[in-house]
Amino acid sequence: MLTEVLGEVLLPYFMAQVIKNGIGTGNKGYVIGMGALMILTATIMMCGGVGGNYFNTKASNGMAYLLRKDIYRKVQEFSFANIDQFSTGSLVTRLTNDITQLQNVIRMALIMMLRSPGMLIGAIIMALSINKKLAAVILVVIPFLALALFLLIKTAFPRFGLMQKKIDRVNSAIQECLMNIRVVKSFVRGDFEEEKFGKANEELRQTGMSAFKVVILNMPVMNLAMNITTLAVVWFGGKQIMTGDMNVADLTAFTTYIVQILMSLMMLAMVLLQSSRALASAARINEVLDTKVDLSDEKAKRKDAVVTKGKVEFKDVSFRYYKNSEEKVLEHISFTAEPGEIVGIIGSTGSGKTSMVQLIPRLYDADEGEVLVDGINVEDYSLHHLRNGVGMVLQKNVLFSGSIADNLRWGDEAADDETIETACESAQADQFIRSFTDGYKTSLGQGGVNVSGGQKQRLCIARALLKRPKILILDDSTSAVDTATEAKIREAFSTSLKDTTKFIIAQRISSVIDADKIIVLDDGVIAGMGTHEQLLSSCTAYQEIYYSQMDKEA
Ligand SMILES: Nc1ncnc2c1ncn2[C@@H]1O[C@H](COP(=O)(O)OP(=O)(O)O)[C@@H](O)[C@H]1O
Ligand SMILES: [Mg+2]
Repeated sequence: MLTEVLGEVLLPYFMAQVIKNGIGTGNKGYVIGMGALMILTATIMMCGGVGGNYFNTKASNGMAYLLRKDIYRKVQEFSFANIDQFSTGSLVTRLTNDITQLQNVIRMALIMMLRSPGMLIGAIIMALSINKKLAAVILVVIPFLALALFLLIKTAFPRFGLMQKKIDRVNSAIQECLMNIRVVKSFVRGDFEEEKFGKANEELRQTGMSAFKVVILNMPVMNLAMNITTLAVVWFGGKQIMTGDMNVADLTAFTTYIVQILMSLMMLAMVLLQSSRALASAARINEVLDTKVDLSDEKAKRKDAVVTKGKVEFKDVSFRYYKNSEEKVLEHISFTAEPGEIVGIIGSTGSGKTSMVQLIPRLYDADEGEVLVDGINVEDYSLHHLRNGVGMVLQKNVLFSGSIADNLRWGDEAADDETIETACESAQADQFIRSFTDGYKTSLGQGGVNVSGGQKQRLCIARALLKRPKILILDDSTSAVDTATEAKIREAFSTSLKDTTKFIIAQRISSVIDADKIIVLDDGVIAGMGTHEQLLSSCTAYQEIYYSQMDKEA
């Protein structure tokens, strides 16, 4: 880059020499010699330019790569609460578009950083050395330009920030619609979604326009200044030539330097303006990097501990999703599940069943009280060990694209075919998998669109079984499975998972009827706990659920 700057400053000087000493005196040898020197300079400039650009691209690309890696890693650490706070659409924008903005500006800044100040200083020195009086014209123009630039950036900066937010909205709209395209289509909400997207898109267009309106002003304003200055120089310079204080060759070189000075100012202005956009993006990237992950095992006291028995204890646990809200989702929950027990959990929707079991693998942290696994507070385990010991089939579970076997191996990467088949037999999935022409190699469409709801649930159970967890949590995981098959799954559990503590959240009483212990949740509190017989004789909430289901069946 230095060679480019030097060349740019020297070339007009050489030109003036050619005009003065070569053409003026008719010295052909001098013209050819200087011409050769100029070609050499230009060639060196080119080599420098290519090298500079290569390293520049390498640096800006590499920086974007590292930044993406860091943010991605950070997002992987995020707790559910952290992700809720950002929205996935916004995280995607930050990982892609915002980083690209930064990459572009770094690229540009690296080119201009040396070149424009170098050219500016070099050209000013050369202009001063040719004609001090004439160079004063520049001093009049610079403050005016600086003021214009300051005003432009001041208006553009907040508009760029707003624009990135609108990009978030567009990305979120696309993502939500595509992820749920089946629901959208079945409710014939296509038009509505299109309108919603159209609105987000239109808002992006408008904020984009309002931001770029400022940017497009930059060039013409600078151009005008450049033309006026050139005119002034030619005007005053022409007068000096007439009085004999200056020659034509010097004026030619001088005008070139003036153009260089103004060009470098213009480039600086552009970099600054671009930077203001990148600054908005940088702030958004930092927001992700600076987010305190509110759930980590940094302070864990027993990082080496692993779940061996599967005993679960809740001691007076209270929990809420929003730390500033009064309303608790769970209140004063206490119970013990011994290793190998089956614990049924029953309660109306929204009563806090899912919230309660999510505290066991620490998907969220309890606000008050303690959750203990094998007598150790879950916050004292390393997250890796804790979650490895707990198999969870979430209420809203997903499969990934890939074959059935690939998906099942999420539970155990090293599992051989036999182990996989045994797990599938327990989960009552073996039969239907074999009925597919490709069997275990059947490839699942995005998220398992080509299997039924009940089949998907059974695959998810098999996947969890392959982890051979000490604690197994099924969150309403058999809701789409018929009762007969469900009974078979339960039967298989009692033989193949004898030592595993099993939590079964269910809507149907029949799903938990033979559990060792049933917890009845009502609006975040335990309304009753005991075996089916005990609850039926003592717990009114349980009786209500039981008889309403009896009525339906009758
Ligand atoms: N991610 C979340 N953020 C905020 N509130 C939530 C979240 N998940 C559930 N809730 C609220 O917590 C309460 C209990 O929900 P949940 O535990 O899912 O009930 P259940 O599984 O018994 O149907 C509900 O009032 C629900 O609105
Ligand atoms: Mg639930």
